[in-house]
Amino acid sequence: MTDHPKYLVTGGAGFIGSHLVDALLARGEPVVALDDLSTGRLQNLAGARTHGHFQFVHGSVLDGPLVDKLVGECDRVVHLAAAVGVKLIIEQPLRSFTINTKGTETVMEAAYRHGRPVILASTSEIYGKNSSGPLNEMSDRILGSPSVPRWSYSTAKAVDEILAELYRREYGLRSTIVRFFNTVGPRQSPAYGMVIPRFARQAVRGEPLTVHGTGRQSRCFLHVSDVVAALVSLIDRPEAEGETFNIGSDEEISILDLAARTVTCAKSASPVERVSYNEAYGPGFEDMDRRVPDTTKLRALTGWQPRRNLDDILADAVADAVADTAADARGEMPQQEPGAASRRTAEGHTGDTDGRATAASACPV
Ligand SMILES: NC(=O)c1ccc[n+]([C@@H]2O[C@H](COP(=O)([O-])OP(=O)(O)OC[C@H]3O[C@@H](n4cnc5c(N)ncnc54)[C@H](O)[C@@H]3O)[C@@H](O)[C@H]2O)c1
Repeated sequence: MTDHPKYLVTGGAGFIGSHLVDALLARGEPVVALDDLSTGRLQNLAGARTHGHFQFVHGSVLDGPLVDKLVGECDRVVHLAAAVGVKLIIEQPLRSFTINTKGTETVMEAAYRHGRPVILASTSEIYGKNSSGPLNEMSDRILGSPSVPRWSYSTAKAVDEILAELYRREYGLRSTIVRFFNTVGPRQSPAYGMVIPRFARQAVRGEPLTVHGTGRQSRCFLHVSDVVAALVSLIDRPEAEGETFNIGSDEEISILDLAARTVTCAKSASPVERVSYNEAYGPGFEDMDRRVPDTTKLRALTGWQPRRNLDDILADAVADAVADTAADARGEMPQQEPGAASRRTAEGHTGDTDGRATAASACPV
């Protein structure tokens, strides 16, 4: 038994979820992770599962009675479960939309019924093609046609935000919305489609780094440990309830510059090549020129500051790409948790962790 509040983390076996689970357990807080393992992995919870205050439940946020029971047994809810990743959303658009709307409604309803506070994971995709930056929490959404899968994901997350807000306004649900911008680091699913692990892999293998479009589009990348630190700092602030917060890095870089910096970091001789969006994704793919968060609100409330910069992130990603490439050359399946190599090599200069290889784009949804 413990006096700490007990957390339900939906999507707890996923990339961000599993890091949050570890952080909560490290604070002595009991955690129940609900996950259907569609993109999450039990391996992500290897450490958590040795912990006495941890419980894993294999199930879906679409299962109303199960969600109701688990929410009732916990004191707080962090709702991260979602269908994410370009590939998944394009291949299974209806299933993705349903999970991302009905699943959230199920969690909100249960949180309301049991009077539990809930943190909802949303996304910078909410802003759509709004390329003015930095974007604050009240910035406009500029979307393309709903028939483009990318915008259906954005729309589903907007529905989630509206649900959280209306449950709060009409029923007094204690809800907080967090919008994650590009997040990178260990345990990231290959299904996600992130540019940094892909560039690192290409640079380490001496292959051309493939830049989609002009390469002048810019992004900001935040290490998952800084994302979790922001989440935990919001969990600790009752003033965060009823509010929406951007969580991201303000270190902006064009994708062309990112490619060059990855080549340097990997001490590689790889060339950089441009590939049209058409070639990379097929016709009709839409992307935004710029995506930069304004995190003033988060910083003002919590004093949060990122502790890792882009060089730390690249160093980790390159170290992982080196380890994966060596394992491939030996014909091995990776035996270690993804990122174990960078944990070894990066300990001296960053204080932790890893970064998983694979991917497809600069713009994860
Ligand atoms: N990683 C990013 O850069 C990023 C950016 C913006 C928003 N987000 C949001 O953050 C949250 C976590 O994303 P992530 O990056 O960790 O991705 P992830 O795919 O690693 O995590 C999502 C988790 O939800 C689980 N899940 C999916 N459908 C489920 C269902 N029906 N029931 C129970 N579990 C289910 C998956 O198995 C997975 O473990 C998501 O809500 C995502 O939309 C992430």
